[in-house]
Amino acid sequence: MKLTAALAVSTLAGTVYGVADHLWYHTDLSNVTEFYNEVNVVPGAEPISTYFMTNGFTGGYFGVQHNTEGKTGKTVLFSVWDNDDGTKTTQQYCGKSSRCSTFGGEGTGLHANYDFQWTAGVTYAALTHAKPLNNGYTDISGYFRHENKEWYHLATYRRKTNSPYLSGLYSFVENPSSYLINETRRANYGNQWVRNSSNKAQELTVADLTHTTLVDSDRYGSGAKGTSFYLFIDGTTNDIPSKTTITRKATGVKPDFDMKGSKGSIKSTQKSHSKRKTTSKQKSGRN
Ligand SMILES: *[C@@H]1O[C@H](CO)[C@@H](O)[C@H](O)[C@H]1NC(C)=O
Ligand SMILES: *[C@@H]1O[C@H](CO)[C@@H](O)[C@H](O)[C@H]1NC(C)=O
Ligand SMILES: *[C@@H]1O[C@H](CO)[C@@H](O)[C@H](O)[C@H]1NC(C)=O
Repeated sequence: MKLTAALAVSTLAGTVYGVADHLWYHTDLSNVTEFYNEVNVVPGAEPISTYFMTNGFTGGYFGVQHNTEGKTGKTVLFSVWDNDDGTKTTQQYCGKSSRCSTFGGEGTGLHANYDFQWTAGVTYAALTHAKPLNNGYTDISGYFRHENKEWYHLATYRRKTNSPYLSGLYSFVENPSSYLINETRRANYGNQWVRNSSNKAQELTVADLTHTTLVDSDRYGSGAKGTSFYLFIDGTTNDIPSKTTITRKATGVKPDFDMKGSKGSIKSTQKSHSKRKTTSKQKSGRN
């Protein structure tokens, strides 16, 4: 596809899919290698057909999903697109509880679905890590942190990139279909941070709000509450800020970038499963 992945998400979401709104984080840190975000989905605001995307970047995204059909229900999803020039992204690692496969349709690439029945009202974290390889490729990894602070490595994908670092950092809430548009989907996104390869970290407290092209029945809203941003779509009300650049309070507390977790080690990430057979494309929800 010719569009950047991030743009395609917005564009297609407006025309083919349902409503979405997005937060685009400001950062002036150069050569970002890690992007950390926390998500807490509001209880009762997570009907099926919702993607709470936390860690979006140029070339991929990562978040928690409530799928529209199939038996898996809730999943954690980490996707990396092929390069726009057609160069395929390749799998370097697939976590032992991940279903790793190619996807097509809205761009092509590889994704990992982790069948984790996440719970609304619980704070989870997602960490995206980019390791530039000096040959025009970058290894991009997705790590999900459970309630007990243990990390799970979903997958590592090698992507041909124009810039070897993480850029275009964003989050969104989306209903990828027109299913249950009468029900609100809402989440808090908090404590965003980035770090670069010289171990310099920056907290991301400012974001720009955008949304898909709306029809009259579409509802959305966003804002900041304490140290979190919130985003919602669908339902019956709007909460549209007067200024589309939103600022949250800083926590000043650097996150667990090195994934020491609650037990001082990275769990379930070391054994390689990259030879594992990929499964067929999932039929519901997002790529
Ligand atoms: C990391 O960020 C700091 C502050 O912006 C900058 O001085 C440093 O050069 C950056 N390191 C890399 C590897 O880009
Ligand atoms: C940041 O990345 C660019 C592109 O890879 C590189 O040329 C530059 O040297 C890096 N800066 C630092 C401070 O490492
Ligand atoms: C939304 O519509 C569905 C059926 O169309 C209905 O079952 C559900 O109760 C409605 N939800 C709300 C919050 O009104």
